[in-house]
Amino acid sequence: MSIPLSINWNGQQLTILDQQKLPHLIEYVTLETVEDIYEAIFSLKVRGAPAIGITAAYGLAIGAQRHDTASLEVFQQYIQKDASYLNASRPTAVNLGWALNRLQDIIREATNVQQAKQLLLAEAIKIHEEDEASCRRIGEHALTLLEGRTKVMTICNAGSIATAKYGTALAPFHLGSERGRHFEVYACETRPVYQGARLTVWELQQSNVDVTLITDSMAAHTIKAKGVEAIIVGADRIAANGDTANKIGTFNLALLAKAFDIPFYVAAPISTFDLGIEDGTAIPIEERNAEEITHMNGQPIAPLGTKVFNPAFDVTPSHLITAIITEKGIITANYQKNIPEMLGAFTRKGEKI
Ligand code: MRU
Repeated sequence: MSIPLSINWNGQQLTILDQQKLPHLIEYVTLETVEDIYEAIFSLKVRGAPAIGITAAYGLAIGAQRHDTASLEVFQQYIQKDASYLNASRPTAVNLGWALNRLQDIIREATNVQQAKQLLLAEAIKIHEEDEASCRRIGEHALTLLEGRTKVMTICNAGSIATAKYGTALAPFHLGSERGRHFEVYACETRPVYQGARLTVWELQQSNVDVTLITDSMAAHTIKAKGVEAIIVGADRIAANGDTANKIGTFNLALLAKAFDIPFYVAAPISTFDLGIEDGTAIPIEERNAEEITHMNGQPIAPLGTKVFNPAFDVTPSHLITAIITEKGIITANYQKNIPEMLGAFTRKGEKI
């Protein structure tokens, strides 16, 4: 039993775990072109905000190796075009644009195309390695917050396979398992794509964590009946005021946490913050195919032509969030002040806080 990984760069090739096939098939696929990578992100073969960012970074770097020009200016134009293409694969997770921007910034240091290609690859590898270290630190911080609490609920999959390793919301369970600390995790199935049932349950089982699957509609009853003591979730984009976009259903859980007076934690790396967005109203929410709701295993479960609303994410207002757990430390309210302070960032006007 070990913590599963979803992204592998062997120095030559990028392979990813096809998360659409889990848990029945454990299949790794090789991604060779920018188009392969766009498709893998768009179709949720690779998903989860940090994993999307890492994969897109490799995508830009892999695509760059094939651009045949001696002109640095022309090369940068190719890179810009590939970056905007990859950035359009999914709209909500800001880690995607963050990783692509980091790569675009790094080639400003290059003096020739060959050097630019090397810098891109090196930066993608760095993003990958840094994410594993960040997730481990998030897990350590989360373990301290969860001290004395055993029964914890989560939604979607903010786990090892959604990141480089360990995950964000699931990191304390993996680390806890390594150290003999017992958690009872309640995983919401996460309709309509079932990341909870297909991915979180499978992933935690690999790590020997005690996990129980529930449907999303069972959350309130389960909190009451089983005495759930905390809720921990991941994030796709956190605005400057702490409002947090995460998988659809997260907002419901935050409201339940308030009703039951239990803590509601968001676990996310710094790469998930978007300080360019003041609050959650400006976060783009992905809407996906109606068939994710009207069909199950290819079979219709609703009348033909049923009108559907299928947002993949919701936004939890920051006043419902007890703490945001990052690799740099734990942020609590007042988020407006404490987020930029923790990030060591600048205000939108460019003033250092
Ligand atoms: O649509 P998905 O599966 O990419 O949604 C993923 C989530 O909502 C995760 O909770 C989030 O990206 C954090 S992953 C560490």
